[in-house]
Amino acid sequence: MTELDMTDPYPNQPSSARIYDYWLGGTHNFEVDRQAAEQVISVYPEMRYSAQANRAFLGRAVTFLAQQGIDQFLDIGSGIPTEGNVHEIAHQINPRSRVVYVDIDPIAVAYSQRILGELPHVVPVVADARDPDTILEHSQTRRLIDFNKPVALLIVAMLHFVPNDTQLHRILGVFREKMIAGSYLVLSHASLDGLPPEIGARVSAIYAKATEQFKARTHSDVLQCFGDFDVIDPGLVDAVDWRPNDPNEWPNKSYYLGGVGRK
Ligand SMILES: C[S@@+](CC[C@H](N)C(=O)[O-])C[C@H]1O[C@@H](n2cnc3c(N)ncnc32)[C@H](O)[C@@H]1O
Repeated sequence: MTELDMTDPYPNQPSSARIYDYWLGGTHNFEVDRQAAEQVISVYPEMRYSAQANRAFLGRAVTFLAQQGIDQFLDIGSGIPTEGNVHEIAHQINPRSRVVYVDIDPIAVAYSQRILGELPHVVPVVADARDPDTILEHSQTRRLIDFNKPVALLIVAMLHFVPNDTQLHRILGVFREKMIAGSYLVLSHASLDGLPPEIGARVSAIYAKATEQFKARTHSDVLQCFGDFDVIDPGLVDAVDWRPNDPNEWPNKSYYLGGVGRK
């Protein structure tokens, strides 16, 4: 295996990947990340619950797609490996499923390489979602993902780190165009509808000092991200309400909207 580069290009800035790792109880984070994560908790005390609920949504969506026969997954903004990684869930149903993990954070990707080791059909890649062509043309994407067949594109808890709406829709347009009929788009996105408005502003202010900036969006904003894909049942809903295994498992809203679209 190639040697890992664990040099943080932005050592004094919290990163969204490591803040999220902290909320999930992970240990792949630094003091600067923990401070920012705790600041968010002081604004929104249910943050750990919400992160876990979002993660559980991701797991249920991947299980559903693997059950539909999807065996290739492009996971953008994949984060630091934790419990219930996409490849682990997909491999329970089809051990030959291929997964490309893409993240902007080089430290997250270095941890991914270390944790994943040498799995033949799973690879982490450093890339920026705002440059979708580079992701699609990346040698590892081309090696593992065949866009002539249905694919699952996972963009889970990532797009709220693309505050610019024009950029957001350009990115999604490039990916949607590349996917053939029968492909799926899994999205989740922070949406603070129903919470006091100052919460979003205060969370955005915390991320203003981080490597990625944060912008919550409304239900109708997030729905537009699916373009002309059919959003399958139950639609774009709070992540806890997306096909729960047990309706009592997640009793409160997560304030992440989750949905799965089919081309
Ligand atoms: C909250 S985590 C979500 C991780 C995982 N998708 C999940 O839902 O459990 C958001 C991830 O998006 C990544 N990210 C943020 N902006 C990005 C960008 N422009 N391109 C690629 N990844 C990005 C962060 O580094 C972080 O790992």
